[in-house]
Amino acid sequence: MVIFVLMVPPLLSDALQNILITDPDRQMHITSYSSVIKRQEEYPTEVLGSGLCNCPSISSMVSMAIENQIHDGFSVIFTQNMVVKASSSASSPPHVLTLSNLDLLSGRFPVTYFYVYRKPPAESFASVLNGLTSSLADTLTHYYPFAGRIVTNAKTSEPEIICDNHGALVVEAHANIPLDELDYYNLDQFLQGKLVSINHEYPLHVQVTNYTCGGISITFTFDHALGDASSFGRFLLAWSEIAQGKTISCIPDHRRNLVARSPPTYDPSLDDAFISCSIEEIANIPTKHTLLKLLYHIDASSVDRLQRLSCVDGVKRTKIEAFSAYIWKVMVRTIEESETHCKMGWLVDGRTRMCRDDPNYSMANYIGNVLSVVFGEASVEDLKRGSLSDVARIVHGAIAKATNEAHFLDLIDWVESHRPGLMLSRIVLGRGGPALVLSSGRRFPVAEMNFGFGPPVLGTVCTTVEKIGVGYMNQRPSARGDGSWVVSAILWPELADALESDPERIFQPMSRTHLGL
Ligand SMILES: *[C@@H]1O[C@H](CO)[C@@H](O)[C@H](O)[C@H]1NC(C)=O
Ligand SMILES: *[C@@H]1O[C@H](CO)[C@@H](O)[C@H](O)[C@H]1NC(C)=O
Repeated sequence: MVIFVLMVPPLLSDALQNILITDPDRQMHITSYSSVIKRQEEYPTEVLGSGLCNCPSISSMVSMAIENQIHDGFSVIFTQNMVVKASSSASSPPHVLTLSNLDLLSGRFPVTYFYVYRKPPAESFASVLNGLTSSLADTLTHYYPFAGRIVTNAKTSEPEIICDNHGALVVEAHANIPLDELDYYNLDQFLQGKLVSINHEYPLHVQVTNYTCGGISITFTFDHALGDASSFGRFLLAWSEIAQGKTISCIPDHRRNLVARSPPTYDPSLDDAFISCSIEEIANIPTKHTLLKLLYHIDASSVDRLQRLSCVDGVKRTKIEAFSAYIWKVMVRTIEESETHCKMGWLVDGRTRMCRDDPNYSMANYIGNVLSVVFGEASVEDLKRGSLSDVARIVHGAIAKATNEAHFLDLIDWVESHRPGLMLSRIVLGRGGPALVLSSGRRFPVAEMNFGFGPPVLGTVCTTVEKIGVGYMNQRPSARGDGSWVVSAILWPELADALESDPERIFQPMSRTHLGL
């Protein structure tokens, strides 16, 4: 029946609804499909088709949703789309914001965050939704590029942001299960087809989903050209502050003034690390392994233990360095025997590293991408034999290569020398052998994300990306606020097995118990 609905021209959908509405259980579903069909009319197919990597068209999303519905009984229906515009655009008349060189390095991957809230004590879902859209409108006044459109400039063939208050898309959705029935360990797979993917019409999508227990999830999806995790963290924090009637703690800086030196110069090692590529190449990254997307809980005591083991002879290592050393040592046991070396990479935020010579200039509130990927390489032998502290020393040395202003100035110049077009870390594109990239979001707002109806029980990254040439982990503080972490991971099966079966028990498959649900 459902597939039939999809093939019906939109005009017929209302008639169909009338015929089928006699079955009360199905009524909701039918309503949702006709609203999905309406969405497709609203968005020209070119827009849907030009979505990133894996953005499924709405109809394929619906068929995925139907499949899931058959397999696990979990369905989400989309009942309303709202376009939310900045409440005031007086301070930002329409203009074009040129992307910086580092924005061009972002791969345009969609970035999705998923937050879960218990049933609000006093508010109804409708009033929650109302509150969210009105505080979003005020937040977009400060973050007007997020309400713009990202289009390719025909002359330069590079994307740019048209700041014209086109709006952000907010989708209302209803799930047919309570929050405690979500599969938190296999969250990405569980939610597949249940989250509206980004399309280029709206670089910011928000989905607010009501569950049968009265709980709520909020999904935020950004086009990476808008910024990096620091930028999105600031945006989300501002939104939650506005929702609580506070003044925002950070005034965003939208200048995107990271310009290359003239003439551009860079260290030749950057040619090994980064590469020019097309959006098609990004969408079709050869992926050797099946990749699993899994969510883990890491106890604060586990992190502390790893850190203690990594700090010997009075040398201090950070929690992330210690954690990386642990992952690297486990990972090396799971790669093919023919490999002699193994890489690990880290995303490094350049904000605190730049402009040190001018104490009056801070990039702390810079909105955009200021990220580099730095890699360490070590022999399989050294990684297997070395102690945790030995490997932590290699980690420290690798990260130090990028935590300085010179690296970022070189990177900006490297991009300048390779424009126009997209560029990416060679290894992320799958051209550097076995590797895993770790992204640390130590200061990313999680517990702070209270929109006036209580703090979340979970805040994590979801990946809609299907092809990536490396393993990937994203670390966040857990909403419990007790020093524990949430790690969202993309892993090959042998690595997932090795991490979970390791006697140290650092990686605990996420469950509702960890979330107190
Ligand atoms: C949200 O879900 C709850 C529980 O199923 C339900 O009582 C409520 O009516 C829903 N809200 C809306 C606006 O549909
Ligand atoms: C920083 O600002 C102060 C006060 O405006 C000024 O006196 C000082 O010269 C500035 N320093 C630099 C390096 O520009």
